[in-house]
Amino acid sequence: MSPRDGNVLCVSPMKHALPPLPYDYAALEPHVDSRTMRLHHDQHHASYVANLNAALEKFPELQERTAFWLLLNLSQVPEQARTAVRHNAGGHVNHSMFWRAMSPAASGAPSGLLADAIKRDFGSFDRFKIRFAEAGAKVFGSGWVWLARAQQNGGGLQVCTTSGHDNPLTQGRFPVLVNDVWEHAYYLKHENRRGDYLKGWWPVVNWEEAARRFELSAQAAGQDWENESGQVAAPVV
Ligand SMILES: [Fe+2]
Repeated sequence: MSPRDGNVLCVSPMKHALPPLPYDYAALEPHVDSRTMRLHHDQHHASYVANLNAALEKFPELQERTAFWLLLNLSQVPEQARTAVRHNAGGHVNHSMFWRAMSPAASGAPSGLLADAIKRDFGSFDRFKIRFAEAGAKVFGSGWVWLARAQQNGGGLQVCTTSGHDNPLTQGRFPVLVNDVWEHAYYLKHENRRGDYLKGWWPVVNWEEAARRFELSAQAAGQDWENESGQVAAPVV
C-alpha cells in the first residue's frame, strides 16, 4: 500500500521492536538456563517494549525518538508519561545491551586495550571480578551492575550499580559491560542465591563486545550515543 492516500501523507509512527536474541535460548547452558532465557527475553523484555510503545501512543512527536534519546531527554517527555518511559525505555535499552554482553563463544577474559585499562584501574582482572560481583550482590531490590567508563576525570573505568532500569548513560558514564541482577534473571535456576548467579556468569561474558563498547566510549561524546542495536547513532537534537 502506498504511504500516500490522495493528497494526505500517511506516516506510520516508529514502533520500538524486541530485538532477537543473538543466540539460541539454550546456547548459554549450563551457566544461564534456557527456561530463564526464554522467559527473560520473550516475556520480560517484550513487555518493556510493549509498555514503551503504549506510553508513547498519545505523543506522536516522541515516536520517532530512539529509546536512548528518550532516556537522555526525559524532561522533554510529558509528565504523565515520564515514569513509564523511564522504566520501559530503560528496560528496553538495558536488556538489549545485556543479551549482547553474553556469548556462547566467550573467551573467558578481556584482551588488548580493555584488559590494560582493567588492570590499570582495578589492579588486576581478578580484583575487578571481585569488585563487580560484590557490587552486584549489594544492589537492594532490582537493578543492574555495570563496568562503565567515566566521561570526566580521564575516562577511568568504574564498577557502578543502578536501581530499577536506570542506565549509567544518564549519569555521565558510558556502559562497557552489564549484568542484570533483577530476580527474574536468576531465580528459576538459583532461587534467592544471587551470589551464585554472579559467580557463575563469568564463563559467558562476551569480552569482544565489551572491548567494542570500550572503543565506542572513546568516540562517544555528548548526545552522540549509540542506538539500541549497538550502532553509533547520529546526534539527535
Ligand atoms: Fe531483566
